[in-house]
Amino acid sequence: MSHDLREIAVYAPASVSNFGPGFDCFGLALERPGDTVSARLADVPGVRVESIEGLCDGIPLDSDRNTASVAAAAVWSSVEDPPAPGLILRIHKGVPPGSGLGSSGASAAAGAAVAGHLYQELTSRSIDDRVIFEAALDGEAVAAGTRHADNVAPSLFGDFVIVRRGEPTQFARFHPKLECWIAVVKPDISISTREAREVLPETVPLSDAVTNWSNSATLVLGLLQGDAELVKESLHDSIVEPRRAKLIPGFDDAREAALGAGALACGVSGSGPTLFALATEESVAKAAARSITKVFRVGGLDSWIEVSPISPLGARRV
Ligand code: HSE
Repeated sequence: MSHDLREIAVYAPASVSNFGPGFDCFGLALERPGDTVSARLADVPGVRVESIEGLCDGIPLDSDRNTASVAAAAVWSSVEDPPAPGLILRIHKGVPPGSGLGSSGASAAAGAAVAGHLYQELTSRSIDDRVIFEAALDGEAVAAGTRHADNVAPSLFGDFVIVRRGEPTQFARFHPKLECWIAVVKPDISISTREAREVLPETVPLSDAVTNWSNSATLVLGLLQGDAELVKESLHDSIVEPRRAKLIPGFDDAREAALGAGALACGVSGSGPTLFALATEESVAKAAARSITKVFRVGGLDSWIEVSPISPLGARRV
């Protein structure tokens, strides 16, 4: 049997997880960069990765280890009467791997979403968002070891996301009332999430926990109410970032430089080494990015930068 092999593509954006005090709970979708996954039907069972292009250093073609193909396969195996036994994927990576920008989560989100869109288009049947979300979490787990939702949920659904622990994982999302421009600057070093989690303490002082709880709550309130001053005061992490900052040469100076350029806040994106800076104007976010870059340059490090608003869309067909 041969199929009319029409190919469709889905773009899923990068994400900034943790975002100050919300370790493993907060995440927001950037408009750019992002990963694009294209899918077409295959006559043989399973999901095969045909090609990976772009920022793809170290990304496995092996479909059992690639987050996009694992996520797509999870969708394909959970739907009724798929229109073909398998899928063939082509992946374009725009999100640098090992950056702290949810690279594996963006691919997982795009892989799950493209399989879902192809199925819905060819069968005219709908798929629940929950199926796509769980499939994307399966994909993320092959790279991260756990089913972290703080990158996958914003990449898939967009906006600012608060992940609630539990089984199944739940989350709430909203689009901030505050105009947000996010600069992301990745110095030319790599830190694995595993390494970045190994420096974290098993227990934390109650006073630090209280600081993070209150900052988390007022940060969300500030974003919802469009209160820039409250966001600025609240976007601090007393627990995780102080430990991880030591892994990023020049972090303190870079943060100071971003704040000096007018950013409301600056911190580590996800598990790093990328820094994010938040501003309410694009020009200020760009100035913050340049200031951070200069600090890294003095330390002998080149940087990769992007400046983006928060994406209200998440994964979408392109
Ligand atoms: N929240 C995670 C961390 C990022 O900071 O380790 C990976 O989802």
